[in-house]
Amino acid sequence: MKILRAELLQSAGSVGQFPSGGLPEVAFLGRSNVGKSSLLNALVGRKQLARTSSKPGKTRLIHFFHVLAGGAEIALVDLPGYGWAKVSRKERESWGKLVEGYLGDRPCLQLAILLQDLRRDFSEDESLLLDWLDERGIAWQVVVTKADKLKPLRRAKRLKELALQLERPGKRLLATSAQTRQGIDEIWRVIHQSLAAEG
Ligand code: GTP
Ligand code: MG
Repeated sequence: MKILRAELLQSAGSVGQFPSGGLPEVAFLGRSNVGKSSLLNALVGRKQLARTSSKPGKTRLIHFFHVLAGGAEIALVDLPGYGWAKVSRKERESWGKLVEGYLGDRPCLQLAILLQDLRRDFSEDESLLLDWLDERGIAWQVVVTKADKLKPLRRAKRLKELALQLERPGKRLLATSAQTRQGIDEIWRVIHQSLAAEG
């Protein structure tokens, strides 16, 4: 994928700070440390456009990136992760408000990409999120991250297990790695398809 442009458009700590929403948006959701910011960077081929960290809870604001790629002009949206035990209740509530404020009222949101670490089981959080997206008619794709962490045979077995756990027949899991770039072109295909579907 030829990336002509990738730059930070806006960082928002509250709903009032969201950009006006002229571009179709693709948002990255998932547990803290699952690799949302890393995947976004891999998609645009930039190492630290979105800030990453080995410690969970790195992304605290919603970051909107303006991206021109393969003839499409979109915003990639890096969301803070959930499920981080060390966060205070107050912080968790403010995260909830921010992310719900985004997902609940964002007509330009074209596609939600839900990330899942290959080595972890799905939790109720993922299942509730997908139900919630379905109820609102928001298209989603589940992407499995850190595929490089397991050897090919274990990886294939694990992917099958996760597909069963997901309990969404007909829905495909995409295995990816920000490190080896496995699956990155496929994510771009899914993004372009979702833009085309909207027409
Ligand atoms: P929050 O901002 O806390 O919600 O986390 P995040 O989901 O944005 O995760 P982030 O991209 O910051 O990555 C977390 C850690 O996982 C970092 O140490 C990354 O280097 C590592 N990581 C992310 N993707 C991969 C991958 O594909 N392979 C490997 N081996 N490590 C990865
Ligand atoms: Mg992050």
